[in-house]
Amino acid sequence: MNKLELTLALMKPHLVKNPIALQTIRNKIIASNFKIVRSGRKMLNQEDAEKFYEEHKGKFFYNRLLTSMLSGPLEIYVLAREEAIRYWRQLMGPTKVYKAQFDDPSSIRGEFGLSDTRNATHGSDSPESAIREIKILLPDFDFNKWNKDEKIYFENNKVTFNSNQFIHQIDYK
Ligand code: CDP
Ligand code: MG
Repeated sequence: MNKLELTLALMKPHLVKNPIALQTIRNKIIASNFKIVRSGRKMLNQEDAEKFYEEHKGKFFYNRLLTSMLSGPLEIYVLAREEAIRYWRQLMGPTKVYKAQFDDPSSIRGEFGLSDTRNATHGSDSPESAIREIKILLPDFDFNKWNKDEKIYFENNKVTFNSNQFIHQIDYK
């Protein structure tokens, strides 16, 4: 596998409350040849939510966005594949729910979005955003270790999928 890229995928709180939807999305992730480098569930706090969405501060939807992101736990996935950012955003579909339902009804947001705010999932929009966002959500993620020691195992497919934990684990041998 060439040019493995990382992206941050978040399952937003309303989706985490729907186990069937969550499983459907997990299946789509696997079917789209992503590797799951990290996987976890966590409640965001106000400070991190503000940092995460700082580019949207002052917009009309900012308060309702924060309220919805703080309404329950998120599922957090660090996904890897070539062009991970573009492919994950393609799987998600358009940001706005009516556009998603109309233009791309089988996309994640087309299928599971409830409103422009509760639009099921998040995906980074550039490599710089992915790094910034992973640092906020998973402060222990070690980018040096990933680049130096871990990435090569994923590139050479020396990983095993653990479906219970929804993660690919490195086959150190
Ligand atoms: O998430 P994405 O990158 O597709 O869209 P964004 O423009 O970066 O907006 C971030 C989030 O703000 C969206 O995912 C929505 O949850 C929310 N939003 C909203 O509530 N109302 C809008 N009109 C636009 C975005
Ligand atoms: Mg965005």
